[in-house]
Amino acid sequence: MLSFSQLVCCLCLLFFVVFSKAEPDFSLLNISVDTERLVEDLKILGQFSDGDYPGITRLLYSKEDKAARRYLIALFEQSGLSVSWDPVGNIFARWEGSDPTAPAVGSGSHFDTLLNAGLYDGTLGVLGALEAIRSLKKAGFQPKRSIEIVAFTSEEVSRFGVGCVGSRYMVGSLSVEELMKLKDSEGVDFDSARKFCGYTEELGSSTTSDDRYSAFVELHIEQYHILEDKGIPIGLVTDIAAPALYTVEWKGPGGHAGSVPLNERQDPFLAASEFALSLEQLILKDPTNSRATIGRVEVYPGSAGAIPRSVRLSVDIRDINEESRTKLKEQAMEKAASIAQKRKVKMDISHNYSYPPAKMDPKVIAVMEDSCRKYNLTFLKMISRPFHDSLFMATKFPTGMIFIPCKEGKSHVPDEYASPEDILRGVEVLAETLARLSYL
Ligand SMILES: *[C@@H]1O[C@H](CO)[C@@H](O)[C@H](O)[C@H]1NC(C)=O
Ligand SMILES: *[C@@H]1O[C@H](CO)[C@@H](O)[C@H](O)[C@H]1NC(C)=O
Ligand SMILES: *[C@@H]1O[C@H](CO)[C@@H](O)[C@H](O)[C@H]1NC(C)=O
Ligand SMILES: [Zn+2]
Repeated sequence: MLSFSQLVCCLCLLFFVVFSKAEPDFSLLNISVDTERLVEDLKILGQFSDGDYPGITRLLYSKEDKAARRYLIALFEQSGLSVSWDPVGNIFARWEGSDPTAPAVGSGSHFDTLLNAGLYDGTLGVLGALEAIRSLKKAGFQPKRSIEIVAFTSEEVSRFGVGCVGSRYMVGSLSVEELMKLKDSEGVDFDSARKFCGYTEELGSSTTSDDRYSAFVELHIEQYHILEDKGIPIGLVTDIAAPALYTVEWKGPGGHAGSVPLNERQDPFLAASEFALSLEQLILKDPTNSRATIGRVEVYPGSAGAIPRSVRLSVDIRDINEESRTKLKEQAMEKAASIAQKRKVKMDISHNYSYPPAKMDPKVIAVMEDSCRKYNLTFLKMISRPFHDSLFMATKFPTGMIFIPCKEGKSHVPDEYASPEDILRGVEVLAETLARLSYL
């Protein structure tokens, strides 16, 4: 027989076991985002710039980048987060959960810019994650898994000609040897620049473990105008397209522009031109998700009075499907070979790089959908054609991306703009998503 007090104890224990593990009732979580404060933070961050106002220029490890880092760290600390960084300057700001040893929920983006760029690209995902945490704290929410902001070092392909430096370093897709070889256009090497910015510890491989994050979420502006055209406030990314870059070089004997008749020439520029147009035709004939771009053309010797002797083209091919991307590349290269043969020029292809496209995690997407429903927000599942740090985070961690509209789809320009209403909705969905993921 149990005494009354023993019975009460048992009931209490039962209650504890059943309810302490239960997740909070998320329908009661009342998040109110302070959009004004967030927009103010974005504008202050935008002042760390070496460009013509209103364009923003903040290149990796520049003095503006260094100052921006100091500002971000101060903001994170003011919000009670514990801040740390790694040797390439990825900054982490952690809100410890009730289960601090469990893999954390990560959220963030980059805060570097291209030359004369905009206020929101990347920075929205960093400061938006901070505002999400501030609003969850204000709502009295207690996370189970820790929630950690990641402010990535240099996502843009700018100073050192390599993109996603921080995220690639974290997941082991960019080695220390590769980093050590990088130089900027003035001959400054990566390691010296890094040290100038205050990261003086030895540059070893990343120590990010495979279970550091149970999920990673990046909030970003869409950088195109699909959401704006459809009047939909939230995009949930399903796939991120990834690029492969090739260099195609054409060579001929050259010759005098006046004497050699056209039908006797072996002109590498004409061969390259025919190739460029045939690449366009390949895609137009069979419209897929692929994109191909010849963005750089070098003609040698580049004299107006001489037939060119060599032409080098960069060929960037992107897709969300690696097989389609490879197939397009093979078709293009067959075409290149037949054009070379017909025009009697030599042709060489070299491969610069290719990254695998990424699929966003269905479970993370499902949580985002529930979060949108709670705020009565319509959403569109969509592809991200630009790549982001999430392309690389997804190689190790279940990842998702939230897009918000940006005016006329403009990005990487000074008049890049996202409205406070759209920012509010994006951060609401982000905050709700992070809260829910911390209990999954
Ligand atoms: C949610 O919070 C806001 C501001 O913090 C408050 O005005 C509102 O009444 C709250 N709503 C509910 C349902 O608790
Ligand atoms: C790609 O490779 C070619 C040939 O090795 C090189 O000349 C070119 O600079 C590389 N391009 C990029 C963007 O790395
Ligand atoms: C969403 O819509 C429902 C039903 O119309 C309403 O009860 C609820 O308050 C709305 N929620 C928000 C956050 O607007
Ligand atoms: Zn970006």
